[in-house]
Amino acid sequence: YRRLRVALLGAGAVGSQVAALLRQHGDELADRSGARLELAGIAVRDVDAKRDVELPRELLTTDIEPLIVGSDIVIELMGGIEPARTHLLQAINSGADVVTANKALLATHGPEIFDAADQVGAQVYYEAAAAGAIPIIRPLRDSLAGDRVQRIMGIVNGTTNYILDRMDKEGSEFADVLADAQALGYAEADPTADIEGYDAAQKAAILASLAFHTAVPLDAVHREGITGIDKQMMDSARHAGYVIKLLAVCERLADVTDAAESISVRVYPALVHRDHPLASVHGANNAVFVEAEAAGDLMFYGAGAGGVQTASAVLGDVVSAARRHIAGGVGVGESTRANLPVVPIGHVTTRY
Ligand code: NDP
Ligand code: HSE
Repeated sequence: YRRLRVALLGAGAVGSQVAALLRQHGDELADRSGARLELAGIAVRDVDAKRDVELPRELLTTDIEPLIVGSDIVIELMGGIEPARTHLLQAINSGADVVTANKALLATHGPEIFDAADQVGAQVYYEAAAAGAIPIIRPLRDSLAGDRVQRIMGIVNGTTNYILDRMDKEGSEFADVLADAQALGYAEADPTADIEGYDAAQKAAILASLAFHTAVPLDAVHREGITGIDKQMMDSARHAGYVIKLLAVCERLADVTDAAESISVRVYPALVHRDHPLASVHGANNAVFVEAEAAGDLMFYGAGAGGVQTASAVLGDVVSAARRHIAGGVGVGESTRANLPVVPIGHVTTRY
């Protein structure tokens, strides 16, 4: 097999599992991708930090630039905007394909990153950036590219679903359950991103951009979190036959003023009837409903958060990147940018 040098940036909840799986399943991944994936190093903040997954000490480094240079594939699992943005751009400009789960970065700097990749013929893979382990990026970008998506309705944040589910089932208090979600590795480094709906809004912007073939900016997404939901509201909802879920709703609207089509993207805690399939999404699971003109209703369901679950989506991207390298690299494989701006940004609306 041809050898490909892989750099991993981050060894937290997701990165440590990616490192472990890369090492455990090296032979199978080589058979599937046609390349021996050699982990050149793992960038962390503190090489001596205690980690749940044991990683070879000699692979850990705080010196990121030399790790990136010369790598064929760079996996960014640091999270946050900086220095993740700088390192992703460095990786792209040094000729690597990149894999990231960083929805915060893609929702805010996506165009810059995709442009940089286009300029050098690199690829950006980001299946793990929305709904954890659930394959949803490729289905929207590729499988449904010949159809017209009308609406996406989903539970796309595992932490808040875990919290609301336990409040509903056990009558637990918000703060106690949040601590558990953090301990289980579901929550972002700053859990405000989860509970205030920022994380779901970032994912909604990414999904809507792909589904509607337009660039949906993050500030066009209406956002409400779940911090205002208390035990009494949960009880009232239950007695009325509903459950409260944080939903992301992305839909096409007919614009009444100028007859042009527009898009609405919004994240908010909603009452979901107990009979609706979304009411049965428990724990940190996610579910995404896609209503397409020709295909009809499609449902994607599974683990929306968690280190090893998300590592599955990351490794799928790594295999795709490796196959592209083996097939000849630049110009071969998938297109980086699925979202050509066909709907003017002025027509993106937060109306609801
Ligand atoms: P963690 O906070 O658990 O891990 C982050 C890792 O990055 C740590 O190893 C940390 O080093 C390292 N790191 C952070 N900043 C720097 C820096 N400046 N220099 C070097 N290393 C750095 O994050 P997660 O694993 O939970 O998340 C990673 C990404 O995956 C994020 O973008 C997140 O949104 C996304 N994601 C997470 C999911 C989840 O369930 N956790 C699911 C889907 C996506 P150190 O260990 O030394 O502190
Ligand atoms: N914090 C995120 C969540 C991780 O809870 O859904 C997965 O993107």
